[in-house]
Formats: sequence, structure tokens, C-alpha cells
Amino acid sequence: MPSVAALAAGITDHSLGNDQIAVRPKAGLGWPAVTSPTSATRPLVVVTGASSGIGAATARALAADGWHPVLGARRLERVQAIADEVGGTALPLDVTDASSVEEFARGVRELGTVRGLVNNAGGAKGTEKVIDADEEHWRWMWESNVLGTVRVTKALLPDLIASGDGHVVTITSIAGLEVYDGGSGYTAAKHAEGALHRTLRGELLGEPVRVTEIAPGAVETEFALVRFDGDQERADKVYQGITPLTADDVAATVAFVMSRPSHVNIDTIVLKPRDQASGMRFHRT
Ligand SMILES: NC(=O)c1ccc[n+]([C@@H]2O[C@H](COP(=O)([O-])OP(=O)(O)OC[C@H]3O[C@@H](n4cnc5c(N)ncnc54)[C@H](OP(=O)(O)O)[C@@H]3O)[C@@H](O)[C@H]2O)c1
Repeated sequence: MPSVAALAAGITDHSLGNDQIAVRPKAGLGWPAVTSPTSATRPLVVVTGASSGIGAATARALAADGWHPVLGARRLERVQAIADEVGGTALPLDVTDASSVEEFARGVRELGTVRGLVNNAGGAKGTEKVIDADEEHWRWMWESNVLGTVRVTKALLPDLIASGDGHVVTITSIAGLEVYDGGSGYTAAKHAEGALHRTLRGELLGEPVRVTEIAPGAVETEFALVRFDGDQERADKVYQGITPLTADDVAATVAFVMSRPSHVNIDTIVLKPRDQASGMRFHRT
């Protein structure tokens, strides 16, 4: 295993030729190296919502693949601990607050030109049916999943284009592709987030930026705990009798799509536990 210092420095591999410098520590996931035609330093990737679950795992996986992750979340001490562990940078970020996003983008720019953005911050609140719809829950879900994603993307897109080889990955959900009883606020928000992300695919044609939507099914993280307002017993029931995806399963998928050569755009990946057919159909033992 390389030391943290070696991870932070990255390992330069000149075997790809003069015009391509691969920067990748030995402890990567086994994909070909991240390549950068312009820089011998590790390319910058922003991961929003990196304080837990999928975002934290993604920051770790991308660091192991040679990226310098910039981890954003409201719980700064958590992102700081992960950044220290992987040789990344932690910055405070509340995606529901326009000035926080502006300040975050300024902090990213001070580090260099960002090449990757993983829009991951978000989540769900409640499972009320439409007849009992809770506007506060709807507002929270729209602010964090939809407006949060558009704010961060808008703030960083000029830099991603200027990098000459950018990539925007958005973690939506199967809730962005289907609906389920009691899920209207979340499915509506994730459909909207998916629509805004997929719009980028056409708008960025001709620009050096790839866009990938990753839509997971059930992943065991703090997601259900947040959805049920800290009720651990209720949260545990979501994963009872199934083998859910782990945050690392999703992170490895992000690392995979981001490690493809620049001309390869993986548009969408849907990944679910084998035990899950849809938002409402599970095989539970
Ligand atoms: N778990 C699943 O089954 C599942 C399935 C499909 C898709 N997803 C999606 O995957 C993404 C990550 O969720 P997860 O499962 O990893 O859940 P999680 O463990 O609860 O993580 C959510 C992350 O989002 C961050 N976040 C929430 N509101 C934020 C805000 N206003 N500003 C900045 N960061 C914010 C949280 O950080 P702070 O609280 O520290 O700010 C946390 O790091 C979400 O978009 C979720 O909708 C999850």
C-alpha cells in the first residue's frame, strides 16, 4: 500500500507517451489510469454531499484512482476527516444556499481547474401519500436534489469546460425513472434532477465535457435515517431481508465511468440490488 503522501502526490506514468500523463496511485480499483493531457498534478474532482454514504465512498474511490477530491458538505468535520485520510480538500457547502455555493466554487477555483463534478448531495424526507403531502418535505427535497444540483453545476460548468476534459456525474435514483406509492415528493425531485442532468447532454454537445447519470436502487447509507427523521428502527426495515447495494458499489461505478477515455460518454447506469426489481418490488427473506 502506498503512503498517504504518495497517494497525495500521485504516481506519474510516462508510458502513455509525451502528450498524455497518467496520474494514478498503485492502490486504484484496477481501471486504466486517469489521463490528463495538461497537468502532472492530480486532477481536481468535486464531490458534493461527501460527508457520508455514497459521496464519502466516491471521494475515497476517486482518490484511489488518482484524483484530488474536493469534498463538500454541511458537516465540515466529517468531510475534513475523509479529506485528511485520502489527501483531498474539504470545504463547507450547503447546496440549498446560493452564497454557500458561490463561496465553495471560489474555494475550488483557488485549488486549480476542476475536471470532475459528482452531484451527489441530496436525499429524501418522509413517505406521505399525495393526499397527505407535506410541503416542508417537498421543499427540502427540491432544494437539495434539484436546485442544489443546478446551483453547483452552473457555478462549476465554465471551469469544467475550460479544463478541456470535464465530466459531470449526477447521482439521481431509480426514483428518477419510476414512481412509487408514498414517494411522490422524492420521485418528483429525482425526475426533475434527472431531466436537468440529461438536458446537459445536448447543451454540451461540442464542448469537452462528458455527462453521466447514475441511478441506484436501494443503497444502505444514512439515506433512510434522514428520510425517517432519525428513526433507526424504521430505517433498518428498509434493508431488512435483502442484500442492499453498498456505498462502495456505487462509488466503484462512478470511478469506472470517470476512468473511460475522454471520447467515451456513458450516458446512464441503473444499478439495483439483485433482490430489488423496482421501487416497490423486493425479494425479502
Ligand atoms: N441510499 C439510497 O438508497 C439511494 C438510492 C438512490 C439514490 N440515492 C441518492 O444518493 C445521494 C447520496 O445519498 P446517500 O444514500 O449517500 O445518503 P446519505 O448517507 O444521507 O448522504 C447524503 C449526503 O448529502 C449531503 N447533503 C444533504 N443535504 C445537503 C445540503 N443541503 N448541502 C450539502 N450537502 C448536503 C449530506 O451531507 P451533510 O448532511 O453533511 O450536508 C450527505 O453527505 C442522494 O442524492 C440520494 O438521493 C440514494
